[in-house]
Amino acid sequence: GCHHNLKLNFFCIEQDDLDAKTDFETHFGIAHTRWATHGVPSAINSHPQRSDKRNEFVVIHNGIITNYKDLRKFLESKGYEFESDTDTETIPKLIKYMYDNRESEDTSFSALVERVIQQLEGAFALVFKSIHYPGEAVATRRGSPLLIGVRSKYKLSTEQIPVLYRTCNSDMSGLSCFCVLLCSAIIEHTNRVIFLEDDDIAAVTDGKLSIHRLERSASDDPSRAIQTLQMELQQIMKGNFSAFMQKEIFEQPESVVNTMRGRVNFENSTVLLGGLKDHLKEIRRCRRLIIIGCGTSYHAAVATRQVLEELTELPVMVELASDFLDRNTPVFRDDVCFFISQSGETADTLMALRYCKERRALTVGITNTVGSSISRETDCGVHINAGPEIGVASTKAYTSQFVSLVMFGLMMSEDRISLQKRRQEIISGLKSLPEMIKEVLSLDEKIHDLALELYKQRSLLVMGRGYNYATCLEGALKIKEITYMHSEGILAGELKHGPLALIDKQMPVIMVIMKDPCFTKCQNALQQVTARQGRPIILCSKEDTESSKFAYKTIELPHTVDCLQGVLSVIPLQLLSFHLAVLRGYDVSVSYI
Ligand code: UD1
Ligand code: F6R
Repeated sequence: GCHHNLKLNFFCIEQDDLDAKTDFETHFGIAHTRWATHGVPSAINSHPQRSDKRNEFVVIHNGIITNYKDLRKFLESKGYEFESDTDTETIPKLIKYMYDNRESEDTSFSALVERVIQQLEGAFALVFKSIHYPGEAVATRRGSPLLIGVRSKYKLSTEQIPVLYRTCNSDMSGLSCFCVLLCSAIIEHTNRVIFLEDDDIAAVTDGKLSIHRLERSASDDPSRAIQTLQMELQQIMKGNFSAFMQKEIFEQPESVVNTMRGRVNFENSTVLLGGLKDHLKEIRRCRRLIIIGCGTSYHAAVATRQVLEELTELPVMVELASDFLDRNTPVFRDDVCFFISQSGETADTLMALRYCKERRALTVGITNTVGSSISRETDCGVHINAGPEIGVASTKAYTSQFVSLVMFGLMMSEDRISLQKRRQEIISGLKSLPEMIKEVLSLDEKIHDLALELYKQRSLLVMGRGYNYATCLEGALKIKEITYMHSEGILAGELKHGPLALIDKQMPVIMVIMKDPCFTKCQNALQQVTARQGRPIILCSKEDTESSKFAYKTIELPHTVDCLQGVLSVIPLQLLSFHLAVLRGYDVSVSYI
């Protein structure tokens, strides 16, 4: 399919002046396979970044330093000259500053790193190396993942590395250590790993590993265990699930929390999207919002259009990127254009972004991939923080995009007095969303039984309207994509204008009927379907006794505020498509790894 773009990106930069002939006597090196979020891909912006031309300190970094501008200003005022456009470069410069201003000759490398990270804001996994500390590497993390691979010729005296509160060596000698960001990068060297916690500082000196930290960690665990990765890599990452898609569907109670984390304040009912706060004035002044995406990402825009119109009081257009480009759609300087993309690399969406930039509109990204093209090229945006989506079919990204767009609406309406009650209702809805998602996931077995009844069918219609029209489109897309069954999302309001002809005893129809402003209209559609002897499978609210009377089967969902109901109602369709695919004998385990 067209969405088979890269979900993981690796880039390589060739350097002409590299001397490949010299032999070095060293037992360790550092390397990084991606460039920073800031600046174009070029040799100067790639890692390691360095403190100065002598390479006194070099650093590789995954993540983003959000206060790099202030740090850079400070360091420049101290005479440090920057050579790249990266946020990372502030780190080697800062550690050199700490080194140049150290209080005594025997200040350790780890102590310097400890001072540096106290000044950093954002997310990072870092590995340092320095000519002042030959044979020594120091690694640390906060927010970004980092693990240490351990390989030893001898049996180790302990499997627990004590966490020290002052740097000194433990007896973990004779190790080879690898500090890496992904299990996949380490498994060919060793299956023994240590997962670091936030703000742990790990130092390796002549094969000795020590871990220390300034303050107690959140887990309060006084040691870090060496763990053995026994299973195949894919297995490890899939856990107990048979496919990434299934794992990601079941991750949704956590992924929506991660999307809201640090952004929704449930105590005082405020929402702050850090990436948009400086652009809010400009967005409020615009003449319309245009939301652009492909496939599932487009459906997230369809799903939230109504609540965005309500909360922003602006006209909202939703566009499929390819069609938007085909039409040469007029775009103006006072438009604000949103680009929704899980991968941040989808070609049509990226081209639409460049098209809007040329026309000087403000561009906003809603992306799941930090450092992706769309994340870099937009003027501002929101990382949905759903975690990597590896399964081919998009699931948790959809619900997180949905929640992100709702948060945007809430932020835009913060000072509209007339909307306060509504905002409050939506924020309460967001708060209970994770619990409700769990409740929906507990219907898995029931949905599996439904799949058993349906998997031999040739076609499956999914019907609904209003807030849940997008649910139907998205459900049908999932079914098509992974079960190879024909499926169509039908707007119930269009039923009498053609699609009703498809309804008979044989044709399975899923109807989404929720207790929302479209309830009565949906009941009408239901009447029409049953009048044709159709056998509707109804996704409805738990309290809804009316719809279930006419249903052939029902899936009852917990009730939430109308504009968030779509987050819940899409999940049974995700599960159904998964089970249908397995029953039809397709390999759902295809993934992007
Ligand atoms: C940021 C940090 C987060 C940290 C938080 C608190 C990152 C990626 N985010 O989150 O680790 O905990 O501050 O200080 O390190 N952007 C785009 N286009 C996009 C997406 C984002 O331009 O498609 C921009 C945003 O405008 C912003 C930056 O990227 O300048 C980071 O965005 P986001 O991660 O959403 O910001 P925060 O939630 O503030
Ligand atoms: C469907 C699916 C695709 C993508 C589409 C856009 O399950 O995965 O429809 O949603 O290709 O991809 P992103 O969101 O990465 O731009």
